[in-house]
Amino acid sequence: MVIKMKIIKAKDYNDMSRKAANIISAQVIMKPDCVLGLATGSTPVGTYAQLVDWYNKGDLDFSGITTVNLDEYKGLTKENDQSYYYFMHEHLFGKVNVKPERTFLPDGTEPDSDKACSDYNKVIADVGGVDLQLLGLGHNGHIGFNEPSEIFEAETHCVDLTESTIKANQRFFASIDEVPRQAYTMGIKTIMQAKKILVVVSGADKAAIVKEAFFGPITPKVPASVLQLHNDVTVVADEAALSELK
Ligand code: GLP
Repeated sequence: MVIKMKIIKAKDYNDMSRKAANIISAQVIMKPDCVLGLATGSTPVGTYAQLVDWYNKGDLDFSGITTVNLDEYKGLTKENDQSYYYFMHEHLFGKVNVKPERTFLPDGTEPDSDKACSDYNKVIADVGGVDLQLLGLGHNGHIGFNEPSEIFEAETHCVDLTESTIKANQRFFASIDEVPRQAYTMGIKTIMQAKKILVVVSGADKAAIVKEAFFGPITPKVPASVLQLHNDVTVVADEAALSELK
């Protein structure tokens, strides 16, 4: 097996954000009607801020792109400031000229999980697949909300969030009781079908999982490890996140 994963070392969080934004902006410039797969979490916030900055300077045009997000909490409305819909509008969609009708997330307000997931699978199929998928990395190796499991789930599915993820995301909510227990997430097959994948990782608290996911065994117990099998993955990580690698 030839592993083609590229690891780009950034000095710090800001440098990681600029490098990642450069890769995304190259994609948008090369293919103005591309489909971007987008991620939430705290790691890509700086990447989005950099893209917005370049947009404001007239260097980027998002009018032709389509976006599909990885995941959404089940049960949160679009107006809830912890929904991923709200996050995307705060950090990107509301600040650049992407067409609102070309931005897609799973519908967290759909109580019927089967319907929410099959609707989202149809969206992904209709947009024709993802050109560049941005990913963060959970402390337990999750990507999107694909939590450690016995199997790789192929398509959009409803997940029960693990205790560690609920605790990790507690910082965004008033109390742990308010953190949703379930989410809808794009599946591993869909993520792996993206033409290119860009992973952003920052901080010493991610160093152990970076080593495990990208240099350990490929297993659904560490969902991000499957990325070792993709032939166009770029990891942009800061020195702290790479500190356990030789
Ligand atoms: C969240 C999201 C993921 C994200 C991950 C890491 O729960 N569902 O898409 O990549 O956890 O988040 P952070 O970047 O805040 O560490």
